[in-house]
Amino acid sequence: MPQVGPASVAYPMSRQRGCPFDPPMTLRKIQDERRPVRVTIWDGSTPWLITGYERQRKLLADPRLSSDATIPGFPFQSSGMKVRRKRTSTFIQMDNPRHNYYRRMLTGQFTAKKMDALRPAIQNIVDERIEEMLAKEAPVDLVRDFALPVPSLVICDLLGVPYDRHDFFQSASATLLKQDSTADEVVEATRQLRSLALELIDQKIEQHTEDIIGHLVSRHLSQGDLTRDEIADIALLLLLAGHETTANQIALGTLALLHHPDQLALFRSFSEPAQIANAVEELLRYLSIGHVGRRRIALADIDVDGTTIRQGEGVIFPDSAGNWDEQAFANPEQLDLSRPASNHISFGYGTHQCLGQPLARVELQIAYKTLLDRIPSVRLAAEMEDLRFRNDMNVYGVYELPISW
Ligand code: HEM
Repeated sequence: MPQVGPASVAYPMSRQRGCPFDPPMTLRKIQDERRPVRVTIWDGSTPWLITGYERQRKLLADPRLSSDATIPGFPFQSSGMKVRRKRTSTFIQMDNPRHNYYRRMLTGQFTAKKMDALRPAIQNIVDERIEEMLAKEAPVDLVRDFALPVPSLVICDLLGVPYDRHDFFQSASATLLKQDSTADEVVEATRQLRSLALELIDQKIEQHTEDIIGHLVSRHLSQGDLTRDEIADIALLLLLAGHETTANQIALGTLALLHHPDQLALFRSFSEPAQIANAVEELLRYLSIGHVGRRRIALADIDVDGTTIRQGEGVIFPDSAGNWDEQAFANPEQLDLSRPASNHISFGYGTHQCLGQPLARVELQIAYKTLLDRIPSVRLAAEMEDLRFRNDMNVYGVYELPISW
């Protein structure tokens, strides 16, 4: 058994060169211990790491573990996140009943039924990006030309944000998610994003629009229980959460399929929507792109299988340490698009479970299917060893993905 005693291990770890889809080896060894283990994070603090699918689900649903980032000792992902979270206040970092108060304003906007109705519009966006890519000379960068624009265009449409601001919000969002951004960089990116949101809110106060920000603005005007600042916080959470994660999942998922020819052939053989939907779930499980894990702080002493987590101590749940638990998914290291995979925890678990998951699912299903159908000869146009993986970001993925056909 390797030495993974109290706080001997730095977290997060990088995934290994040569097997960029697998969770870091040290994390898998900690997982084998099947008990909470302390790790050291960027500020020298030593929160607990929780592994195991059932243990993670039980604790993620436990109200004694709080998402409130204002509580001293909260285990932030980076110094940038610490600065940002202290300046903004969105429901992802609140506990119930406050969290539910805001979340309920949006649940009707992201139902599976509503997202299904968006399929034709999302299909159009995907088709257009593919045609534009094919009009270029190969190789092209799938991240820049497809994976990033598709979810950005979709979330811009839904929120009522002009897509011509994408260069700005994509780069500001990258600053927020980079683990080594300086406090100044984060403060400036946050200030600029906020002023974009407030500018749009003011426009929609003047002239009503039928989009999610417009809907929140109507509530602000008619019921008066939502301020401009609160709308700005919600809009930015949706804008950032709505493009970055899905973009990385599209690119890394495509790479994983290209790297596993048998699974690529299997995906292509699927004709039923349910088969494609399940393949997307397996890619979400297998890739577990939430690189820094879910973060919580204990509001009380909690016994976890004989280990006491004390009130005020930080707790981290790495996604892959649940999704790669062989007691939940047999042979978790195998990408197997035919296994039932929908109960993975890549969208989190409990009260903060991803609000946008019905949207992400529809986007991913359409993006992979159309890309592989429309470009039958698609292939990686670089050596795997030369790709740059996002070990330094809060969301894992690949920086560029050169493809040819
Ligand atoms: C592959 C794509 C995505 C992944 C892997 C993902 C993952 C997650 C995870 C793990 C959480 C839980 C955070 C926690 O427990 O602290 C979360 C929350 C959230 N996600 Fe996503 N997400 C994705 C796409 C989206 C999209 C497209 C949206 C669009 C609006 C979105 C909006 C949100 C929001 C608003 C929350 C906060 C929910 C709450 O606190 O109640 N996500 N997401």
